[in-house]
Amino acid sequence: MTEKFSVGVVGAGAMGSGIAQVAAAAGHKVIVADASPGAAEKARDRIGQGVEGQVAKGKMARDAADSLMSRLHFHEQALGSDAGVFSGCTLVVEAIVEDFAAKQALFSQLEQSLEPLAILATNTSSLSVTALGGRRRNPGHFLGLHFFNPAQVMPLVEVVPWAGTDRRVVDGMRELMTSWGKIPVVASDTPGFIVNRIARPFYGEAIRIAEEGIADYATIDAAMRDLGKFRMGPFELMDFIGNDVNLAVTKSVFEAMFFDPRYRPSLTQQRLVDAGFLGKKSGRGYYDYGKDAKKPAPTNDPVLQLLVFERILAMLINEAVDAVQMRVATAEDIDLAMTRGVNYPKGLLAWCDEIGPERVLGWMTRLQSEYGEDRYRPSPLLRKMAADANNLFA
Ligand SMILES: NC(=O)c1ccc[n+]([C@@H]2O[C@H](COP(=O)([O-])OP(=O)(O)OC[C@H]3O[C@@H](n4cnc5c(N)ncnc54)[C@H](O)[C@@H]3O)[C@@H](O)[C@H]2O)c1
Repeated sequence: MTEKFSVGVVGAGAMGSGIAQVAAAAGHKVIVADASPGAAEKARDRIGQGVEGQVAKGKMARDAADSLMSRLHFHEQALGSDAGVFSGCTLVVEAIVEDFAAKQALFSQLEQSLEPLAILATNTSSLSVTALGGRRRNPGHFLGLHFFNPAQVMPLVEVVPWAGTDRRVVDGMRELMTSWGKIPVVASDTPGFIVNRIARPFYGEAIRIAEEGIADYATIDAAMRDLGKFRMGPFELMDFIGNDVNLAVTKSVFEAMFFDPRYRPSLTQQRLVDAGFLGKKSGRGYYDYGKDAKKPAPTNDPVLQLLVFERILAMLINEAVDAVQMRVATAEDIDLAMTRGVNYPKGLLAWCDEIGPERVLGWMTRLQSEYGEDRYRPSPLLRKMAADANNLFA
């Protein structure tokens, strides 16, 4: 899977242009197409500027930059007769609008001009890979390749087979992503895959703590940064991501999980979005980013900060353990995704081992009995791990 075949990328927006750049940097001829007038040209300019920036900083040689750009071929139309521009491609990655009908129509058209053995991949964040895969002419050659934004920078790629994906295609794509300099992890086709599922309590539990008035945003952020060594606290991070984007992911996971209360979105975030307080990009979110705004100071109470940190960490570990139990991914891939993919200071499963599953279970059991809510139910696997640890020391 490492010979330099041609790669197609459909959709030249934020994700498609990044994916195209990565594939071209790895030496592939890349065909990029976008249906909106001017979008392909914009993508060429965006990639060109990024590459020139690398050259200016001495991070890329001039001839490497020139040959990267020469391998990229842009087309204004993806659909209709122009689907033929992809005919020589061995792999086509779709990164168009997040709309099932649009993606299904696109894949059907691509299939008319591609070789039957070509591999088709979707970069969807929230749609069912299975629902797209089951409708394919060659279902074994279809899977999800979920890149993170910006794709040319973020190392993680979730490789998402559905039940019908040929195992050799999964192995081949994992190998290919490694050869592109990425960190591939294999995730089952479940809502949020690995990262967008396991990270939910980092935001949701932090908001819940603030809603109850236990601690304010600055104190919760400080607890997660100082005690947890996370690069950013939950509220800083939500403001950075954009509250509209963060809320949309939470809602989509909640709905796709058949309204499991563990993933319930919060009214606080909904109201921020209603108000247009989207975070840094709008000048105000949980915090004020105005010219004269001062960031509020955290409450310097070590006991309170420890309480906050342990509660959020317990929920994160419980989520990761549950994902292992539900076979979302292997424990190794879950820890790899969270540490190397989204910069968690430690893998959550390694963290669980370090703290001791019986202690994490103790935190969860206390929360569950205090609130009586299913949201706080400990994963059955966490109970088993705790029992095994207790037997070991009995
Ligand atoms: N933005 C992110 O953080 C992120 C991260 C991971 C995955 N994704 C997923 O990647 C996909 C693309 O997201 P994005 O942020 O790049 O969106 P975007 O809006 O920046 O780009 C989408 C592009 O697709 C084009 N397009 C729409 N329909 C088309 C069609 N039928 N044929 C050809 N081109 C078409 C649009 O003109 C647009 O240029 C979505 O499925 C999204 O869920 C996004």
